Amino acid sequence: MNRKVTVSVPATSANLGPGFDVLGAALKLFNTLEVEAFDSGKKTGGPFVSIEVEGEGVTELPRDKTNVVWSAMAGVFEKFASKDFKKKLGSLVFEIKLINNIPICSGLGSSAAARLGGIIAAYKLLKRKINFQEVLGLAIKLENHPDNIVPALAGGLCVSALAGGEVKFIKFAPPALKAVVCTPEFFIDTTKARAILPKIHKLQDTVFNCQRVGLLVSALLSKRFDLIKFAIEDRIHQPYREKLIKGMSRIFDAAYAAGAYGVALSGSGPSILALTDRARAKKVASAMKNTWARLGTQSRAYILDFSGSGCK
Ligand code: HSE
Repeated sequence: MNRKVTVSVPATSANLGPGFDVLGAALKLFNTLEVEAFDSGKKTGGPFVSIEVEGEGVTELPRDKTNVVWSAMAGVFEKFASKDFKKKLGSLVFEIKLINNIPICSGLGSSAAARLGGIIAAYKLLKRKINFQEVLGLAIKLENHPDNIVPALAGGLCVSALAGGEVKFIKFAPPALKAVVCTPEFFIDTTKARAILPKIHKLQDTVFNCQRVGLLVSALLSKRFDLIKFAIEDRIHQPYREKLIKGMSRIFDAAYAAGAYGVALSGSGPSILALTDRARAKKVASAMKNTWARLGTQSRAYILDFSGSGCK
């Protein structure tokens, strides 16, 4: 066996304000994963796995079998590989190269991208047909919320739910807006950002969010961009996560003052997403970045398009 596969996976912005664990959209910022698998011809007690990282996460990401890309691949081999393939596994070599453009632990779906990339690469190495439902079933076991993995796989603007034991989703065309993403230099671990949330919410806050999820999707689809600033508000996660992101509301205010239609935490943060049009994107990006700087935090601002396509 000597096979090489290349997979690209987009960054995603999940939640979009009120749509906690529901809404997500793919962004035109991609990680590329290259895997070359070949038979060493000798039983090495393997598989032997080598991992090279370029770009984001170069100093942080593990190069051994604890890397989530490899764990995802190994899970697929375990579940779907033929007896013959499993027998050969001990003498196989996997050379994995991660070319990362998505900042890690920043609320831009880097772990969903890594897991999905690993799953798809393993499917291709096994020459197994990609079935979205099956892939999502595996991915959801690794990441227990669908709002990053669905748009990373399918692209576009996705509305997802866990229902009937599966990930159910509908993909819409991506919003015809610019996504200005401002990523500060510190990391937030999603597990910590979920642990900080209350287990129970007041009925009025739940109703507030339900109303806005519906309004936001409708506003984006019908291009009622004037409604986004109302529809993108949230009461069930952002107010609690603000404790982890000092100055968050100042960045929101700066983006709105520079003309953003709407501002939200990207995923569990710390990146902040502003929706705007082409004409105002640069001004919004500078306002966000300069405000972080005034608060003593370095950041990077990205002006991105949403991506209609997902994993390739
Ligand atoms: N919906 C998830 C959360 C996304 O906010 O915890 C994590 O990126």
